[in-house]
Amino acid sequence: MKQETDSYPFVLKFIHWTTALLILGLLFVGFTMTAMPFSDDKLKLYMLHKSFGLLVLALVFVRVVAKLLSPKVKPLDTHKPWETFLAKITHVLLYFALFALPISGLIMSWAGEFPVSFFGLPVPSLMPKNHDVFERSQDFHEFLALGVLVLVFLHMAGAAKHHLIDRDLTMMRMMNSKNYNFLGAFAVLALLGSVWLASAALVAIDLADDKGISEQVERADEGADDHEDTVKKLDSDEWAIVADQSSLAFEATQYGQAFKGGFAFDGRIVFDPDHLDRSLADISIDIASIKTGSDDRDKQAVSAEWFDVKAFPKARFVTEKFESTGANQFTAHGELTIRDVTLPVSFPFTLTIEKAHGERTARMSAELTLNRLDFGVGSGQWKSTETIGDAVKISLSVHAVRKKD
Ligand code: HEM
Ligand code: HEM
Repeated sequence: MKQETDSYPFVLKFIHWTTALLILGLLFVGFTMTAMPFSDDKLKLYMLHKSFGLLVLALVFVRVVAKLLSPKVKPLDTHKPWETFLAKITHVLLYFALFALPISGLIMSWAGEFPVSFFGLPVPSLMPKNHDVFERSQDFHEFLALGVLVLVFLHMAGAAKHHLIDRDLTMMRMMNSKNYNFLGAFAVLALLGSVWLASAALVAIDLADDKGISEQVERADEGADDHEDTVKKLDSDEWAIVADQSSLAFEATQYGQAFKGGFAFDGRIVFDPDHLDRSLADISIDIASIKTGSDDRDKQAVSAEWFDVKAFPKARFVTEKFESTGANQFTAHGELTIRDVTLPVSFPFTLTIEKAHGERTARMSAELTLNRLDFGVGSGQWKSTETIGDAVKISLSVHAVRKKD
């Protein structure tokens, strides 16, 4: 039979109050940061939120071990059976949330391929990117956060009732005192209670705001041309890009961790490997189509500080010449315009042309690295490459068709 005691051991008291402060702070920061517009400060808050959230996870492990090793805290004589029962359920649910909140946060970040660090120490991802898992864990994380807000209210109200109405030792045995001390415990209740109130107020604002968000205009999905239509539109000398089988992807870094994105593009390609002097490509990239796996980041990317889609809706690459460098190997030399900056860009690519069903299909792929700052992408606070790196890896894959020889 496990030993029994009237008061919590010091380590459990210490972890209880540290965790209480952390949880209430995390709720407050969590709801604040998600409502903020995309900025460097927002990303810094996300990183802090994750670090402190992981601290909660570390503490709950220590807490469970300490609880198993220490004597059982027996109910006070003043506790009615229903109070003991209700408190037990609340405590079990709170313990569950202490594990589930940080774990769902971790899974959300990993599945979304967002960086996680513990106060600067990178935490490697244990799973591949998965949009479905990302969305589910995001919803679960938010649900748990709202659940904890309600549970902590019940929990605090219970503690307040015992201290202020029943005037028993419930609060005192979670504090470092054996005697009833009205002011000390009241101060703790008032302090943590006000952080709870601030978090609850934020949730109320957040819920009211949600209406506005749902009314926001959804960016029209740049539907890929149907293959049949593409072929019909063909001018016999030209290649037509099959949009749904072509991609312009990029990889950049946020806090040193890679994230991927892509653009829709279209353009004119006249290409004959035997007549490179008569070949050209004029590719137009639709900036508003950017997708990076985060709505927030997409909105920020098209803003004035980044691509400034209102002033510069398209980026453009126009070739000056092609060079043959080996079997199926070429180099394109041309000019790339992003925003109002035009720079010479050359990149090697591989190209294979096949004939099938009276139709020629070409597959080209290229990889190159650009520096975003060369094109003025990311101004003001974003000029620093501490948060978003300068180098951007581009992967271009084009599937094009040509009807006649
Ligand atoms: C103003 C804020 C809070 C007050 C006044 C408070 C007060 C208390 C008191 C008096 C106890 C002991 C109950 C008893 O002996 O029957 C307790 C236990 C507990 N509290 Fe809190 N608490 C607060 C916030 C929180 C928060 C934010 C959490 C975590 C999410 C939390 C989690 C727990 C848990 C899990 C226990 C059970 C401890 C155990 O048996 O190991 N508390 N709390
Ligand atoms: C126990 C600790 C934690 C608490 C109380 C907490 C609480 C919250 C809250 C209240 C939100 C806002 C919910 C919303 O409006 O969508 C949030 C969002 C978020 N949390 Fe946590 N969190 C904790 C731990 C973690 C951990 C450990 C991570 C990651 C390692 C994490 C990652 C995130 C992320 C990425 C978001 C933003 C989701 C979005 O952009 O919609 N959280 N968290």
